[in-house]
Amino acid sequence: MEIIVAKRAGFCFGVKRATQMAFEAAKEKRNTFTLGPIIHSPQVVQKLEEMGVKVRKDLAGLSDATIIIRSHGVAAEELEEAVRKELDIIDATCPFVKKAQEHVKSLSQSGYDVVVVGDADHPEVQGIVSYATGKVYVVGSDEEASRLPKMGKIGVVAQTTQSFENLQNVVMKCLARGGEIRVFNTICDATAIRQEEAKELARQVDCMVVIGGYNSANTKRLTEVCTELQPKSFQIETAQELNPAWFDKVERVGVTAGASTPKWLIDEVVERIQQINRNK
Ligand code: F3S
Repeated sequence: MEIIVAKRAGFCFGVKRATQMAFEAAKEKRNTFTLGPIIHSPQVVQKLEEMGVKVRKDLAGLSDATIIIRSHGVAAEELEEAVRKELDIIDATCPFVKKAQEHVKSLSQSGYDVVVVGDADHPEVQGIVSYATGKVYVVGSDEEASRLPKMGKIGVVAQTTQSFENLQNVVMKCLARGGEIRVFNTICDATAIRQEEAKELARQVDCMVVIGGYNSANTKRLTEVCTELQPKSFQIETAQELNPAWFDKVERVGVTAGASTPKWLIDEVVERIQQINRNK
């Protein structure tokens, strides 16, 4: 059985950077916390916990501590609170997310009503929105955008993981809602590239294994994309979940992983598939 691992499987640039920063901080052995889980990988979060870095929901009651901001970023008020409390701040916000936050701030300050294309419940979007000083709307689709009120100047930014098509469709609707539109394409193509690669792989193999946290939206989407092309697609978090029956009569298996899946988890899965193959 041949095992093909997607070239871009696993950590994207921003997640890799945030994880490295968190492990570096863990070595310092100070009173260190992350604000929310650092990435959507329970295994990485657990490793950090074992090294003394705990997850906190908020900053209540915290003093003389180091706080790590995750790659999604946080709300402006939360960052201000951390500064007020004189905490040591390690800001691991992905630079692409930071860009989106900065655009929202400057658009607002220049008198634009801001439209953020994305999922209103996602922490990245909640963080981006908090940088607006004037009116701000979150829309998930062009259908939602068609219900926006009439505005004067509209500034549009996108959640980094949005599809280009969705941004384009929302912008088209905004053209009918305002007199002037300013658009910043803040989409990060790491997600799209990973999905394209997974699609290509799913077409070539008899079984696809997608590794990533069940709480990770991009891993879930990756599994959906693969399942459309290869019904024998399975999402797992760790090698222990692999079922040998999945590989019956399989000649080629494809492996990919979400943006928050560390390399050591991918390696463990590949090793376990090799072992299953040897026992066939
Ligand atoms: Fe950053 Fe793109 Fe990853 S925005 S966190 S590099 S998916």
